[in-house]
Amino acid sequence: MRSRIVEALANDGFLLDHETEEYILGQDAPLQFARQVISQMVHRPLVVTMRDVRTVVRVETPRLTSLPRPMVSGTRTIGEVEVLRDITSHSECLASVEGFARYFQDRYASLRQLLLRRMDLAGAQTIQRVLDPNRTSDSNKEIKVIGMVNEVRTTRSGEMILEIEDDTARCTVMVPKDHKLIQDSILQDEVVGIIGKLTQKDRKIILKKLVRPDVPIRSGMEENDSTTQVAFMSDVHIGSNTFLEERWRNMISWLKDEADGLNLQYIVIPGDCVDGVGIFPGQEEELLIEDIIDQYKSLAEHLKDIPDNIRIVMQPGNHDMVRPAEPQPALNGEVSRLFDSNIMQIGNPAYLRIEGRTILSYHGKSFDDMVNGIKGLSYSQPLKAMEEMLKRRHLAPTYGGKTPFAPERQDYLVIDEVPDIFVTGHVHGAGVSSYNGIRLINASTWQDQTSFQKMHNFVPDPAKLTLVHLGTGKPSIAAF
Ligand SMILES: [Fe+2]
Ligand SMILES: [Fe+2]
Repeated sequence: MRSRIVEALANDGFLLDHETEEYILGQDAPLQFARQVISQMVHRPLVVTMRDVRTVVRVETPRLTSLPRPMVSGTRTIGEVEVLRDITSHSECLASVEGFARYFQDRYASLRQLLLRRMDLAGAQTIQRVLDPNRTSDSNKEIKVIGMVNEVRTTRSGEMILEIEDDTARCTVMVPKDHKLIQDSILQDEVVGIIGKLTQKDRKIILKKLVRPDVPIRSGMEENDSTTQVAFMSDVHIGSNTFLEERWRNMISWLKDEADGLNLQYIVIPGDCVDGVGIFPGQEEELLIEDIIDQYKSLAEHLKDIPDNIRIVMQPGNHDMVRPAEPQPALNGEVSRLFDSNIMQIGNPAYLRIEGRTILSYHGKSFDDMVNGIKGLSYSQPLKAMEEMLKRRHLAPTYGGKTPFAPERQDYLVIDEVPDIFVTGHVHGAGVSSYNGIRLINASTWQDQTSFQKMHNFVPDPAKLTLVHLGTGKPSIAAF
């Protein structure tokens, strides 16, 4: 029967994912039921998922089933730098509808755990339980749920409507037009806690408060005896015809003169190590080195000039020679063999530990989506965008924008550990700030303004090294 029904639907032009197939086959007259449901869908998908089915019929079975969260990847250590977590050698990507469902299940489950630590969400219930009229019949009772945002829209009269879902059901949340949240930006796919009251008539939640997982408020790194400094140096873009060779040489001379005195022992490069090839249309016009392997050879030569006792940690970005989908594994094979043994390759994002301090390093491709999705945010405020990531405990909250995702079993973009230092690159700015005690760094570039940036009126802030003292947490910026 199974194959007959699946084949008949395929002939109609519809495929079913595994979960939907099981659901349809569990109905009394499966083919008739499936055809009737699909005919009512506003957008007819090629692969029908339970998400589509739920737009037509009420289904009580769980969708965002909580999976046991796999252990953090095994620790990799080179010298004094430990990689606590990245995707390298741990990829379990499943590029299918099921793979994405599994990925979002993990994202939901891990962010839910973080939200449940929030005091104001104590006693949060499942959406199904809250919607059950036998359980919630008092419209004055405060209810609490945790859901992933499916949709955000604004009504003509100015209310914000959120559609959220958890592992049991889906519901509508109405944000009154005079609520302060109207000024805020809720991103699709972020996971939030909702506190409100349920209307008895149409079972909608009227929002009182929205709770984000956020990071706890701390006063900063507790001082220790370390005298070591780490420098952050992003977006080198070797191969580009606007690579700032002379200013790079100034930086190298400075390192030779000053690094020992400053006890500068580590340099972290959060991505776009080379300019790459084929990254944007017409890039070949802007390349000094047209072959990507030659670009890495040149980078290896440039890095050789850095004093040998400084350990270098290299992370890929969207211009590097690894898969563009995040999380990105470390550079490997013939490319990684071009580099000296004091250079460590890590994935993007990665959690590092250097002398007891935890560093979250992420190239920052999702800035492209954050500036589109969050009111008032622009490319010139990457540190603000980083705060928004921390509030949501996710490096790239929205799926389906400019940041490509690989559907891994575990969502490596969840910020599940609170770092001491959070560093990004990508936007070619340079800045330092802090948020709830976390040192935030956006780590400059070694590429001058490109014609693309000129067209978009974007002025980079190149040729700077940001240093952080690992004992005191104090930052400083050296400009060249
Ligand atoms: Fe870049
Ligand atoms: Fe980039």
